[in-house]
Amino acid sequence: MACRATLLPLFLFLLVAPEPALATSGTIVFTTLGRSRYAFDVFALTIAPLSAASAELRLTDGASVNYNGNFAPSSSGPPSLLFVSERNGSLNLYLTPVPTSASARRRDALEEEEEDSAPPTPLLPWDPIALKDRPSLTPDGAHLVYVSTAEPAGAPRRSWAAVYSTSLAPGRATRRLTPRGVADFSPAVSPSGVWTAAASPGPRGWAGEVEDLRTDIYVFRTSDGSRRALAVPDGGWPTWADDTTVFFHRRDADGWYGVYRARLTFTDDDVASVVDRITPPGFHAFTPAASPGAPGLVAVATRRPGSDYRHIEVIDLSGGGGGANNRSAYYEVTRPVAPRAHHFNPFISPDGERVGYHRCRGSGNGDSPLLLESIKGPAPDTFSLFRIDGSFPSFSHDGKRIAFVGLPGLYVVNSDGSGGRRRVFSGNAFPTTWDWKRKGVIYTSVGPDFASESTEVDVVAVSLGDGDGDDPSVSIKKLTVGGENNAFPSPSPDGKWVVFRSGRSGHKNLYIMDAEDGEAGGIRRLTEGPWSDTMCNWSPDGEWIAFASDRHNPGGGSFAIYMVHPNGTGLRRVVHSADGGRTNHPWFSPDSKTLVFTSDYAAVSAEPISNPHHYQPYGEIFTVNIDGSGIRRLTHNSFEDGTPSWTPYHLKAEDVGETLQASGTCAFEDCHWLNIAARPDGLMCGKHA
Ligand SMILES: *[C@@H]1O[C@H](CO)[C@@H](O)[C@H](O)[C@H]1NC(C)=O
Ligand SMILES: *[C@@H]1O[C@H](CO)[C@@H](O)[C@H](O)[C@H]1NC(C)=O
Ligand SMILES: *[C@@H]1O[C@H](CO)[C@@H](O)[C@H](O)[C@H]1NC(C)=O
Repeated sequence: MACRATLLPLFLFLLVAPEPALATSGTIVFTTLGRSRYAFDVFALTIAPLSAASAELRLTDGASVNYNGNFAPSSSGPPSLLFVSERNGSLNLYLTPVPTSASARRRDALEEEEEDSAPPTPLLPWDPIALKDRPSLTPDGAHLVYVSTAEPAGAPRRSWAAVYSTSLAPGRATRRLTPRGVADFSPAVSPSGVWTAAASPGPRGWAGEVEDLRTDIYVFRTSDGSRRALAVPDGGWPTWADDTTVFFHRRDADGWYGVYRARLTFTDDDVASVVDRITPPGFHAFTPAASPGAPGLVAVATRRPGSDYRHIEVIDLSGGGGGANNRSAYYEVTRPVAPRAHHFNPFISPDGERVGYHRCRGSGNGDSPLLLESIKGPAPDTFSLFRIDGSFPSFSHDGKRIAFVGLPGLYVVNSDGSGGRRRVFSGNAFPTTWDWKRKGVIYTSVGPDFASESTEVDVVAVSLGDGDGDDPSVSIKKLTVGGENNAFPSPSPDGKWVVFRSGRSGHKNLYIMDAEDGEAGGIRRLTEGPWSDTMCNWSPDGEWIAFASDRHNPGGGSFAIYMVHPNGTGLRRVVHSADGGRTNHPWFSPDSKTLVFTSDYAAVSAEPISNPHHYQPYGEIFTVNIDGSGIRRLTHNSFEDGTPSWTPYHLKAEDVGETLQASGTCAFEDCHWLNIAARPDGLMCGKHA
């Protein structure tokens, strides 16, 4: 394949180049779609006997974001839970004891009930900053096998996700099991520990999928990644019932996600498989879990027609069970307990008695999400990274306040946690930027986002009274007049001009107008052409305007970042994430030498179906020098990160009080592409393109 031949040499070169040092400072604040509302905890329910209802047992702390649990194998020691947790801005894997079924009846939560014991310690060393996901333990308890994004893939639009094995002995020796140049997702260690199965796009890489990730199931030796072989084409999320039986999910030709079983035969250098379909069409079944302690059982997540919620069910294959339309028995596990919640990624205990999963713990714990969440970054002494529970955040130039939008609504809040939160506009507005000279003046555009050239959207200046936040009077001045999709205003540092994009010519191009009087005070065109120039940002030194554009392939859906001088000269492309790539929302660093942006440069880091809905699950935050060199990845997660902005003000994590709270939890949606109606013939009506 041509792409393989051309990518490989580049790859080898980049692998030896270390990530560049972040030579700058200040604070970057960005958005993760819906993420601050997750409040996930890992729970378990008894499934033996299958028909008996049981009380839900919470296995994690009820305070952090805890997800993708997995029971440790029984041979590795006392019953324990492995899980992923985000604590204080860092993500790690943890191991915690699980009460036996008998002692579980006497209490209803685990971690915080252990008053005397310290919270579990992270299993992996902090460095490097990376996603860590889908943990399994080898049966001897000696090695942790998981996905990490620790190492750059070396080429744009290639996932950094790879399987690693870390010894739990002192020293924590770590070995990469996935070959370089390839991505692996969703690993599972076989009951004997000899084999690991993973979902991999293989040499074809990632083609931009945001729904069904095209992967095959590969198996390889857990000890060193050797004897890697393609076991089953077209499948994801493998799980082992025994050392020759793997269950997995696949989106079938009929449109439904189904669970399949593969019986494997290992030969000297290959693996053969015989595959049969377990779940019939007519509903989605995915993310299966099997366990050697529960022969004949497989737990799955389902989305059934007529239900808005993702639930865990257990399929009993033993009663004549098997292929499609066979009489497998289905047991609802979570719907009777928590009918109106999404339940994710089940796992079965080694003794076959319990099924675990994660779900949002709900709003009953007084744990409103933080408005600002500090994320561990590469240089915490000089530079901070914050996630905000809102979109298009920007700091006022004194760093004291942050504006953001709620789609709808425009909000302002003090950045230090002292409150001052108020809604200054109730309609739909995006994005936010502050005037450099006139205190308390915020530029935004009012109207629908993601709209056509002729849609009525206008740039406005929102003036916050005296600018100190005490005066509740807000005035709004419309700066553009045509209403032809005028959006993404960004002011010049001398306070005289505003650059924005407009669809007035029939195409979205950039224009510059008077900052105070708007179009009436003068307007000139900055870019011109039959394509889309948008998301512009004026550099603090006044020299450049950065923007996103599809001018290299108009209408093709691929955006790259460009720069131009305000007088229209010097146009150049700064960063492009390969053919078809998406690179958006540039914002200059305080010294005007670096840009922060969001991009699919690192592809996706997990199977999208294992998460709540993200329109663009590949979105991560990166920085690049304005000459296009030194791309650096700042965020590592499987969610949609976007709309970053950068301030010189170094807002430290400890400066942000717990009082900066937003309201509501569990406000997120399941994958939209699962919302399809069944037709009587079992086919789907919904489009899924
Ligand atoms: C987070 O950090 C705070 C302050 O350093 C500490 O008190 C708290 O225990 C930490 N939380 C977790 C879950 O580690
Ligand atoms: C039901 O499953 C069993 C075991 O897998 C299989 O032998 C049988 O042929 C299946 N029957 C139907 C009707 O699919
Ligand atoms: C345009 O602006 C750039 C940057 O300020 C400057 O270097 C250049 O000389 C200007 N060109 C013209 C033709 O004015």
